[in-house]
Amino acid sequence: MSGRITVTYPFRDPLDLPRVTILKGPLREAARRSAALITLLTDRVDASVLEAGRSTLRIVANVAVGVDNIDVAAATRCGIMVSNTPDVLTDATADLTWALLLAVARKIVAGDALVRRGGFTRWNFDLLRGVELRGKTLGIIGPGRIGRAVGRRARGFGMIVTYRSRSSRDSLRAFLEASDFISIHCPLTPATRHLIGAAELIRMKPAAILINTARGPIVDERALIEALRRGRIAGAGLDVYEREPRVPAALKRLKNVVLLPHIGSATVETRRCMLKTAVTNVKAALRGNRPPNLVNPETWRPLQ
Ligand code: GLV
Repeated sequence: MSGRITVTYPFRDPLDLPRVTILKGPLREAARRSAALITLLTDRVDASVLEAGRSTLRIVANVAVGVDNIDVAAATRCGIMVSNTPDVLTDATADLTWALLLAVARKIVAGDALVRRGGFTRWNFDLLRGVELRGKTLGIIGPGRIGRAVGRRARGFGMIVTYRSRSSRDSLRAFLEASDFISIHCPLTPATRHLIGAAELIRMKPAAILINTARGPIVDERALIEALRRGRIAGAGLDVYEREPRVPAALKRLKNVVLLPHIGSATVETRRCMLKTAVTNVKAALRGNRPPNLVNPETWRPLQ
């Protein structure tokens, strides 16, 4: 295994790699001088970075399942492999989706705030009534690994689960009309940007709750804020935002939302496994083997 490996973040967990350089300065310069880059979803690996690495860079190993921060088409053009970290974060992300769904449905955050400010002075029959899950329909957009893991958990709550994969906007609207809870688990691509906009929100039930632990731009945030403000839908649980880390003040003012700072896969165990997966992909690439989580298989060729 030869060549410089650059990581964009000083990871706390051991990397088990020789000659790791921590990024200082522009990513483009690192791409020019490295055989491998280990990146985070906050790193923009655009065409200019990839073109700079055209003659040296063999792999960009993203420590995330989503690769929307990388111009994969440009990487493929430059013959640079891209890998991600699927599977290892499925359960952590599905668990967090449920934490959000339950938090919104049962007003957990409002309850916690009430107790802390001394508002729990006596038991109250009508206090913080939420909604029941049993018998309700959970519509899952994106029946991939995470979507299906969310669906499996729904069985324990006695919910009816429906899945929606690629189909027309008309069929999406019919799907939304039938769902009490909607949870988004598709990747962000040009086709899924603003998949949920004003026209879709208006088709949801007034009692519907929307959960997004995938990528912010899949939902038109302005339209969502408007729908929540006008009571067109009942609530939302968000772990991701359109322009992270910016969260609109109008969203923060709403009482019917629960907001998290993009922590879907943030467990000790999963973060370790994500890093290990990225390292495995880098080692394979630099040894001339096929990385197990190659996103653009067209680029793979054994080292001469
Ligand atoms: C997290 O958002 C990921 O894509 O892994």
